[in-house]
Amino acid sequence: INSFVEPYLIPEGSDELNKNLKFMANGFAVTDDKIREIIAGFHESMKTGLDHDDKDALPMIPTFVRGRPTGQEKGTYLALDLGGTNLRVCQVTLNGDTTYSLVQQKFTITQDAKESRLWDFIAECVGVFLEEHGMKPAPGKRTIPCGYTFSFPIFQTSISSGNLSMWNKGFTVPNSVGRDVVNLTQSAFQRHHVPVEVVAIVNDTVGTLMTSGYSYPDTQMGIIFGTGTNAAYWEKLESIPKWTGEDRKGEMVVNLEWGAFDNATKVLPYTMHDNKLNRKSPNHGFQVYEKMISGLFLGEVVRNALLSLVDRRLLFEGRSSEILNKSYTFDTAYMSEIVADDSSDLHGVKAVLEGTLDLPTTTFIDRQIVQNVCNMVGTRGVRLSAAAMSAVLLARPELMKSNVSVGIDGSMYQFYPNFEQDLYKVSSVFLDPDFVQNRLQLRLAKDGSGVGAAIVAMTVDRDRA
Ligand code: GLC
Repeated sequence: INSFVEPYLIPEGSDELNKNLKFMANGFAVTDDKIREIIAGFHESMKTGLDHDDKDALPMIPTFVRGRPTGQEKGTYLALDLGGTNLRVCQVTLNGDTTYSLVQQKFTITQDAKESRLWDFIAECVGVFLEEHGMKPAPGKRTIPCGYTFSFPIFQTSISSGNLSMWNKGFTVPNSVGRDVVNLTQSAFQRHHVPVEVVAIVNDTVGTLMTSGYSYPDTQMGIIFGTGTNAAYWEKLESIPKWTGEDRKGEMVVNLEWGAFDNATKVLPYTMHDNKLNRKSPNHGFQVYEKMISGLFLGEVVRNALLSLVDRRLLFEGRSSEILNKSYTFDTAYMSEIVADDSSDLHGVKAVLEGTLDLPTTTFIDRQIVQNVCNMVGTRGVRLSAAAMSAVLLARPELMKSNVSVGIDGSMYQFYPNFEQDLYKVSSVFLDPDFVQNRLQLRLAKDGSGVGAAIVAMTVDRDRA
């Protein structure tokens, strides 16, 4: 038996059940050889994307961020952080000694905002924040400068402008694709009389990279493993042939948009459960890597897989619940709870299934099946996460001779059981194990996306003054 499959079989289960689990586990397995293939695919796609914009390659977006933070930046700034789930409005204080603090207010993005009135929603939230925290423009100024973290792919045209290339994470706001999102936001500020000026727009991965760099100067990469997934890294300008700016010396942060990997190449091991999710999603055929890794999707893949077993009458005696029948009801947070349950009767799993998901009384075998399926999908996610991180580090082999910090934020990294430990473990198969053990530091850049925008805004504001 393939070692990827064995732990998922259930000794007391029927032959039919184990035959199906074996088939499923094989489908979700990502072997070491597969990861090597993925890393090679990443390298080819990164190279193409750095050379020219190509819809089949990684976007590799130049971000106009060229200066590393020194840790000495000092002052209080406004930052807006539009994620996939929440909008955070933050007042960030950089202390000038590599430390920072922030006051933030979190607004859950409403369905209505995701589908239509996003820009007005943002302006209203910022208005509320300014009011509640008594923030006003500095004496003699008409607006408050602000760093804007935008967690969707934009093709940047300057440090403070960029055109939306597409929505993802379930957003579908009309009349936005192809347009400058700073402009759209700024117009809403005007409509709502919010005295704020966006001076810098950064991707959340760039914010994370900058925040981690503020505290740890050896930071080379920023990653989000959250609702979505993506990374940004420092690249030499001379290695970005498509950069047409005059100055080609020094380095620039590049936003990979790695969630788009394999949109065209098709090296990933898709199962029918992935295909079902993909087909029903508003961005069918896009962000396919992200759909196997990130928090928004993993629970949905598990739900599809569980229902396939229900339909074969191998799980819950062939019964489902109204909740489980609806798309996206199996939250990835439940997966974390289920995977972490090491009680002898799996009562944590029982609580999620019978309590939260309203399923009829479950048997111990049912609970084992569910835990195993969550593990299959979760393990695949972690392995693909490590593959992507390793691929980017391997693209800059010279860096790995010294210490490297990687700043990471996001719910998967923070809450999925053993995620960080497994990232190290899997990466050490593909990177020099000595590097992984002694020189690589994965660091939580908590609230990094917002803080990083403030750091960039401060640099821009300082250079303008
Ligand atoms: C999605 C977005 C990307 C963002 C990532 C993490 O992949 O396209 O811009 O960085 O989610 O939030």
